Order: sequence, then C-alpha cells, then structure tokens
Amino acid sequence: MCGIVGYIGYRQAFPIVINGLKRLEYRGYDSAGICIVNGDPFLAKQKGKVSDLEAFIGDRPLPGTIGIGHTRWATHGEPNDINAHPHESMNGKFILIHNGIIENYSLLRSKLEKRGYIFKSETDTEVLVNLIEYIYLKGNVTPEIAVRLALTKVVGAYGIVVINRDEPDTLIAARKGSPLVIGVGEGEYFIASDATPIVEFTKSVIFLNDNDVAVLQRNQMVLKTIYNQALEPNIQQLDIDIEAIEKGGYEHFMLKEIYEQPRSIHDTYRGRISSDPFDIHLGGLYSVLPNLTEAKRIILIGCGTSWHAALVGEYLIEDLARIPVEVEYASEFRYRNPIINKDDVVIAISQSGETADTLAAIRLAKEAGALVLGICNVVGSSIPRETHAGVYTHAGPEIGVASTKAFTAQVTVLIMMAILLGRRRGTLTEERYRELIREVTLVPDKIEKILQSEELVKVISERFKDSRNFLYLGRGYYFPVALEGALKLKEISYIHAEGYPAAEMKHGPIALIDDTMPVVVIAIKDSSYEKIVSNVQEVKARKGVIIAVVTEGDTTIKEMADYTIEIPEAGEIVGALLTVIPLQLLAYHIAVMRGCNVDQPRNLAKSVTVE
Ligand code: F6R
Repeated sequence: MCGIVGYIGYRQAFPIVINGLKRLEYRGYDSAGICIVNGDPFLAKQKGKVSDLEAFIGDRPLPGTIGIGHTRWATHGEPNDINAHPHESMNGKFILIHNGIIENYSLLRSKLEKRGYIFKSETDTEVLVNLIEYIYLKGNVTPEIAVRLALTKVVGAYGIVVINRDEPDTLIAARKGSPLVIGVGEGEYFIASDATPIVEFTKSVIFLNDNDVAVLQRNQMVLKTIYNQALEPNIQQLDIDIEAIEKGGYEHFMLKEIYEQPRSIHDTYRGRISSDPFDIHLGGLYSVLPNLTEAKRIILIGCGTSWHAALVGEYLIEDLARIPVEVEYASEFRYRNPIINKDDVVIAISQSGETADTLAAIRLAKEAGALVLGICNVVGSSIPRETHAGVYTHAGPEIGVASTKAFTAQVTVLIMMAILLGRRRGTLTEERYRELIREVTLVPDKIEKILQSEELVKVISERFKDSRNFLYLGRGYYFPVALEGALKLKEISYIHAEGYPAAEMKHGPIALIDDTMPVVVIAIKDSSYEKIVSNVQEVKARKGVIIAVVTEGDTTIKEMADYTIEIPEAGEIVGALLTVIPLQLLAYHIAVMRGCNVDQPRNLAKSVTVE
C-alpha cells in the first residue's frame, strides 16, 4: 500500500525522504509528495512516480533537516495531484501523510463541513488532518493532544506522520492497522512504513504497535498510547543488509529475487533441518508442538500467492502427516461465518505480515479460541505479533511486487512442518523421513540448474509475448503451481491467464483451446504422469500450443509439446519449489518484452493493508 517516510535530525532531510520514497515505491505508486521544514514547511506533490515528483521539484534547493514523504496507492479518490499526500488542513496548521483507510470519513467530513470546513480533495486523509486541526483550534490543546483526540474518533486503519506549523521541530507519528517503524539514530529519528528506507542509516528500530503515538524531536522521543498512557520503547536490531534491498546489477528486483531462490530457500531451512544427523527443528513452534501434532484440523489462510503456498501446504500436510487440512482465502474466511473449533489450528501465511484480510481472519480465529500460527517473511510485522507462535521464512526483503522468493520460502516452511508433523505422528517411516530431509537439502542446487534454462525461456517468451490468453495446467502438487504461474503472468504482463487442475480442463476450459492458445503444462514424472500425458494429448488434438515443464530426460511429452523446459528429477514434495521457477522466468520475460513495469505493475501494491 502507501509508503511513508519521515526524518528529523541533523542531516538534510530532502535526499533522505526522496530516496526513502524510491525504496518504498514498490508499496504503492500512483502519486507522491513531500514536505520539508525549514522554518516554514515546503510542500510538493504530484501524480505519477517519485521520479515525476523529483522532476517537478527540479533543481530547487530544499534545505531543512525535518521532512516527510509519501507514495500513494489510491483508495479514496483517483490518483491526481490534489488527492496526493501530504494533505494540509484548511487553516494550514497541520500537514499529514497517511497510510490506511478512515472508514467513518464521510460522517466526519459532513460534521466538519457543518463547522465551516471546505475540502479540496476526495480523500479520507484530508478529513483526518482537518479533524486534528479542528480539535486543536477549538479545544486550545497541544498538537499532540489534538492528534491523539482525533485518533480516538477515527474508525479504520492508519499509519500517519504529522507536522504542525506552530511546533515545526516536532514530528508526530501514530499507528493503527498500518505499519510504522521508527529508526533510532544519534540525535535523529527516521520513520517509515517498512524498514527499507531506514537500514542504510541505522539498524536500531522500534515497531509501533496499534494505538501507539510517538512524539519525535531531534534528541528525544516520547512514546505513549492515544489514550495518553506512557510506553517504554522496545528497541530491536534489524537483521537486513543494504545489499538485500538493492538491485545488485539485475535489471529488476523481480529477476534478482528469482535468482536469489537457491540462497533464500537455503536460508529458510538453514539451522532448522539437517541430514547429519537427520533432524528437523522449528524453534518458533516449539511451545505449541503438542497442540499442532494433535490438531483435529488445520486451516491454512492467506491471499494471492500466499494462498497458493497454502494449497501446496494442504497437499503436503495431508500427505505426510495425515491431518485434515482446509485452505481458505483470508477474505472469504473472515466474512463467511466459518466453523472454528478450539482444537483447530489456524495457520496464516503472509509475506508482508500486514495483509489486512489475513490479519482480520487471524483475529476471528483467535476470538473463536483456535491456536493461531503464522508463516511470515517480514520480521516484526503485525502477523507475527498477533499470532500465538510461528515461523519466519527468512527469504530476505522482497521488493518486486510479484512474489517469487517469498512463495518458495513459504513452501519450504510448509514442507518442514509437514515432515516434522509426520515424524511426530508416526505417519512416516524412518526411511521416508530421511529421504524427505535429503530431498529438501538438494533443492538449492537443483534450482541453480533450472535457472540455466533462462535463455530457452526467453525464446519461448518471444514467441508468445503477444498472446492474449494463456492456460496453465497441473495435477496434485502442480495444480497450485499452475495457479501461481498464471497469477505471475497476469499481474505483471496483463495477459489473461488461468490456472486449472489438468483434469478439469475437459469440464469447460477445453472449449477455449485452438492454435492461438498457449497451454503451459506441468508434466512431471510422478504418480499422475500417465494422466497428464493424456491431458497433453487432449490439448494437442485441439491444436493447442504446448509449453511443458518436464522431468529431465522425458521423451514422451517432448514428442508432443512445442517447447519443453526440463527439471531435475526430484521427489514430489519439493516439486512445487522446482517447477515454479521456469514459470516465474516466463512471466518475467514476457512482461519485459511487452514493455511492462515488472517491479511495479499497474494498480498493484506490495502489501495490501486495506480490506
Ligand atoms: C502476487 C502477490 C500477492 C500477495 C498477496 C498476499 O505476486 O504478491 O498476491 O501474495 O497480496 O500478500 P502477503 O503474502 O504479503 O500477505
């Protein structure tokens, strides 16, 4: 969603804020704005990207050691200069940037209008900044009290940073539902909606909790709740290097992240799995392992790519540990009055740890008395803090909007969980247990090998880059991979793509197949290989064009398919990790060849903090 940056200290704020916005642009990118304080605050905002804002500012010197900035992903009001942040209150007392949604904004707006307030934009944010000002002027209170009182009247989610013209040497930050991190330096503070703009300056951070308010001056920070209860700051050390958030020579973050997967998967299982001696240890689950092992049912929830990982998890856990598993879109789960029992275990899967629907589903499950666990990538994010226990994926920062390495890290965690549970429940023989562990440790080398097929994938991409539709087919573990391949293609190349279980094709989608329809089939030699061969024949018989992901040395499919991409032989349980790689590359290259902005596809945001 939107990105927020703030700085107060002794350095020039403008470069910090503008570079911070560039780092955050992956979160949302339809408009951007800044405010730099040098006695009087200077405000500039523009529709478009941070580079458009930079061009608009041009060579104008912007001195000042306090500043805030925002990249927007529109919720209320179309993307234009007026709706862009920062927003200024009607009498100019307050300037504010906001991430989130004020749900009762129209009620608040009409109340303020009755009291003479005139609005320039269509945004909920302008309502909030005017509400703060109204309370400030009417109540004759301090800016901090005005902010806190206003926030008690707000329904919805916010991460905000506020500048006040009467106390220009102070920044006020507050959070509810939308993440905010404060970086703590010597005589300076940084604020951001995630740590990426902060890591190059300091590793000491405070993750604000819901209802926290931080009042920041150069040499001091006061932390309290919006109800004025004093809080002790919990300063944590970040474990992220600056290289992790830079492109490192790759043209796009997405390509870098695809190539990082041998490493990121290794980081996910490092220290948790070992083949000498054979062992699996997931420290984050230690305290809940008995409940998890005895669970009557596991419900996996997530959105988008994380939901696809959950589907792989269902196959894994049912296959290896024999526990019934259900997979739910978080957004459906939370609104459909689901049955949640006390002996259910709900596992929420999320890269960002901030997805609003997933968080709401977690809260619902907790209220129903279930044990709720998280599988998350972003350390310190909301989901790990709201779940009873969980496992971090350790994939490192994922900046490309299309999720790649986070997916394979999530699946790696699910594989480890399934093996661990199978072991504890006695559903795996010792031999199978060892074989499975060995399979996991071989994955990084196999992915290195698959990445060597990039040139072939480019050739395939060139041939199909102008196709209007794609169909992706897979069975068993490869059905979620088909869904994921289709999602990757549609979100970054804007080509319509659908994923289907291969056998379902004849129940409808087969009608779409003709010689203009590329069909990507994941046709790995496993228990359903013969069936998938028949599906390929069915497509061929209708003149469909086949791009098949096959096991190394396969000749049967090769004879039928137009293109084949080979995958090293591997056990089914790690199959999703391997077969998704060429599909990520295919989506990437097609999107690049179509001239799409791969890292920042239109209308999308990296972390969806609105419901
Ligand atoms: C697709 C993608 C999204 C996310 C979804 C959930 O490439 O990235 O579909 O997977 O928005 O996000 P997280 O995992 O952060 O909860």
